[in-house]
Amino acid sequence: MEESFLINGGKILSGKVEVEASKNAYLPILASSILCDKDVTFLNVPNFSDIHSMCEILKRLNVKFEYFGNVLSLDVSNVKNEKITHDLTNKLRASIFLLGAMLGKFRQAIISYPGGCNIGQRPIDIHINAFKSLGVKVIEKHGYIYCNASNMKAGKVVFTSVSVGATESLMMCACLLKGETTLVNVAKEPEIVDLANFLNKMGGKISGAGTDVIKIIGVESLHGGEYKVMPDRIIAGTYLILGAMCGKNLQISGFRKEDNNFLFNIMRESACEIIEKNGNIIVSARGRNKAYRYLETAPFPNFPTDLQPQIMAMQSVASGTCVLKENVFENRFNHVMELVKMNADIFVKDRIAIISGVEKLYGADVFATDLRAGAGLVLAGLVADGYTTVHNVQYIDRGYENLERKLEMLGADIKRIKFE
Ligand code: UD1
Repeated sequence: MEESFLINGGKILSGKVEVEASKNAYLPILASSILCDKDVTFLNVPNFSDIHSMCEILKRLNVKFEYFGNVLSLDVSNVKNEKITHDLTNKLRASIFLLGAMLGKFRQAIISYPGGCNIGQRPIDIHINAFKSLGVKVIEKHGYIYCNASNMKAGKVVFTSVSVGATESLMMCACLLKGETTLVNVAKEPEIVDLANFLNKMGGKISGAGTDVIKIIGVESLHGGEYKVMPDRIIAGTYLILGAMCGKNLQISGFRKEDNNFLFNIMRESACEIIEKNGNIIVSARGRNKAYRYLETAPFPNFPTDLQPQIMAMQSVASGTCVLKENVFENRFNHVMELVKMNADIFVKDRIAIISGVEKLYGADVFATDLRAGAGLVLAGLVADGYTTVHNVQYIDRGYENLERKLEMLGADIKRIKFE
């Protein structure tokens, strides 16, 4: 059954919205919990479909689950080394994290290639080459990756390009590896720091997360314990942009401002009003925003690719022209065609989009092609004149919890509709 959002745009949104825990921090942390010997309890698990997909994979490895509201306890004491099949990996790019975690735990793994959002080729060569440089034998055949790490040794891994996932994979695989492993030219995203904090809380010895070089001193074992994952900076960013587009005292709480510094710089140059009060941010639109003249996506601390569609929706109705370059993924402009259906004026050449702001967007039938593109289209629908149907809501559910209900509470006219 297909699900869509039907949005009657043009409402002013106000009230308070709370940001959930980070999907991109939870996914590697959940995978790495198999490295622990005892129960692990997570205190703030969000209801995203990607989290459920990760839990399905962990079930295959004989992890037992107990939920109390959004508190989740994992019994990892009888975890088993099983082949991770295509039906489990095809839903989720982050299934690749199991490879690092299983190599760390069992020194052997067989896993099918990961699926995930269609935003580019998304190869896994950086992960595989890094494992190989520590002595892991890798054979790729018939859609599966066979890894044997019985001769894996701690050492130095120099990444040729920066990858969030590969940095996290290597942290997991080296955590229980005797000796010191150094990772050079790593990603510095806050989710990497959160993974290090989790592993260290369970007894790991990882330093340098958040800088270019991470050091991991292997420990014999990890115990269990409780953990609260960091807030989702992409959801926070989505609401901040929403507030700048159509908010009136829209209060966003439960996130860390420092994770979105780049976005705040953009917002300060637009026309919106941002007030900080008791650790919360209150945003109000002040008429048309000024276009941000030039913006590129790049690894943290630069502007995140995961907010590119949302900022594009904002720039579509700003006054002036914005030049936006997508550096991280080669195919992340699928939402452009959909925004153009809504009257946006956007010209794309290779990785550059030139957005000439228009006075008004008009409602249309549009299709989400991935998670964040879907979020961008919802923002556009909320400011458009008339009705917008955003199809393929299953993508949005991967990383936003009950988005329509949260927006409705802020005064939006939005409904989830189902088609046979
Ligand atoms: C993570 C995030 C994703 C975000 C991305 C960039 C999670 C679960 N997902 O994805 O939401 O958009 O970071 O911030 O945290 N690459 C290769 N070979 C590899 C690995 C990556 O060529 O082996 C390329 C990718 O295709 C991409 C670039 O490197 O062009 C960066 O990807 P990476 O940082 O690895 O992103 P993910 O970890 O997949």
